[in-house]
Amino acid sequence: FQPERRNSRGWDLQDVTTLAQIDADRAPLGKLTVAPILADDQTGDRAETRTSHDNLNPATGAKIGTTQMASTRDAERALAAARPWDAPVATRAEVLNRAADLYEAHYGEAFALLATEAGKTLADAVAELREAVDFLRYYAARAAQEDAPARGIFTCISPWNFPLAIFTGQIAAALATGNAVLAKPAETTPAIAAWAVRHLLAAGVPATALQLLPGEGRVIGTALTSDPRVAGVAFTGSTATARRIQAAMAKGCAPGTPLIAETGGLNAMIVDSTALPEQAIRDIVASAFQSAGQRCSALRCLYVQEDIAKPFLRLLTGAMDELALGNPWDIATDVGPIITAQAANEITAHVEAAAAEGRLIHRLTAPQDGSFVAPALIRVAGIGDLGREVFGPVLHVATYRAADLDRVIADVNATGYGLTFGLHSRIDDRVQQVAEAVHAGNIYANRNQIGAIVGSQPFGGEGLSGTGPKAGGPTYLARFTRRAAPEPQA
Ligand code: NAD
Ligand code: ALA
Repeated sequence: FQPERRNSRGWDLQDVTTLAQIDADRAPLGKLTVAPILADDQTGDRAETRTSHDNLNPATGAKIGTTQMASTRDAERALAAARPWDAPVATRAEVLNRAADLYEAHYGEAFALLATEAGKTLADAVAELREAVDFLRYYAARAAQEDAPARGIFTCISPWNFPLAIFTGQIAAALATGNAVLAKPAETTPAIAAWAVRHLLAAGVPATALQLLPGEGRVIGTALTSDPRVAGVAFTGSTATARRIQAAMAKGCAPGTPLIAETGGLNAMIVDSTALPEQAIRDIVASAFQSAGQRCSALRCLYVQEDIAKPFLRLLTGAMDELALGNPWDIATDVGPIITAQAANEITAHVEAAAAEGRLIHRLTAPQDGSFVAPALIRVAGIGDLGREVFGPVLHVATYRAADLDRVIADVNATGYGLTFGLHSRIDDRVQQVAEAVHAGNIYANRNQIGAIVGSQPFGGEGLSGTGPKAGGPTYLARFTRRAAPEPQA
């Protein structure tokens, strides 16, 4: 695995813009069509059994295309046609590397789809394509080192917020280990998923080993997680959905069928009085507002030592004022849209409720059109006030006294989540002590807490944030094989 390959192509922005205007996924934006990609798709009688779904651009509300949603009949056909990929591991690795080459070669289409379908800024789209390519190459390399028997059919269910990287990562892990994959992308991001599947098939993945089922989670997702033919489920999304999937699997799948669940977080950062303010501010702004806060890893609750809180918050609000909100395709944009108007309304309602209680510290102004939410700072007594993951550009701020550091850590642990955690301090012993006491999968000291790198920063949480093992790490593939110990029975 060679991470330095990621930049080898020298992407040209002018080229990217042209592609976005005229050749996104080889159809003009507005007319993209997505349909299930099934191994036995011969008869052409599917369309009338499927419902149709409009794909919208979250920055403008404009329709970019239409998806034929997979039906439960499609799920049955996919399950019947699925066959584990029995090629030698070296062949599987070669095919996944070829798929990575195709992803890189068609980068303009990927960026265009990520921006228009998922509202990704250009910077986030570049990072997302790199991560997807890294997953393909990393799991190809790992599988070649540690070949073990496949489990069978894996259902892979992914979220909209990393519609290419996480979608690809789950599939690449299951395919690298020789499983057949039934891939269910999020309802709002089927076109980028179809783009990925087409490149994986073109690279040489057999049609019986990879099928795409875009559809409703509660319909098609349930059908794909409650069937005895399913030998494993890889899920990334909310903690509530993971619980539903666990219940469906308990009813329909064989005992011991693994559920690899990577879920939500209530992530905190502590800034003590020894921190370098400029560095901490830069890292807070990235952690809380990049990707419009729509990352599981994003900072939700900042604890600032009270001795420095006043000047520190002045610096923070000043840095927020420099953020540019707008069209994700504009090179100057820092903060793009929220994935749907409904999600934007819910986040705005949360901010308004805090404002009504006099707890709004600062808020920017959002564009009128499209589903935007202005980055906001809200005062809280502590992380316990949040109650749930607010999935947007909203940062909750608490102050603490130096003598109360242990209580802050106890409060963070008491949420039950354990995904990311950040600490800014120049006292090495304190960094060590806090890192040992906090229960979180990924702990970052004196840097931002988003954007884990495949291969060098394995990513995943504990408690309500995930079942482990960590994605992009050396133990991930074992759960997709029969070498791993069976799941404990519920
Ligand atoms: P979600 O749980 O609503 O949906 C995730 C996927 O599950 C979608 O494909 C959806 O269609 C499907 N689904 C919904 N109900 C289902 C059911 N009953 N059975 C089977 N599948 C079902 O999550 P989302 O809104 O798409 O994503 C945001 C959430 O994902 C946040 O909570 C975020 O923290 C989390 N997330 C976690 C990680 C991580 O690595 N830990 C990474 C990204 C996102
Ligand atoms: N892996 C993603 C991050 O670290 C979710 O931000």
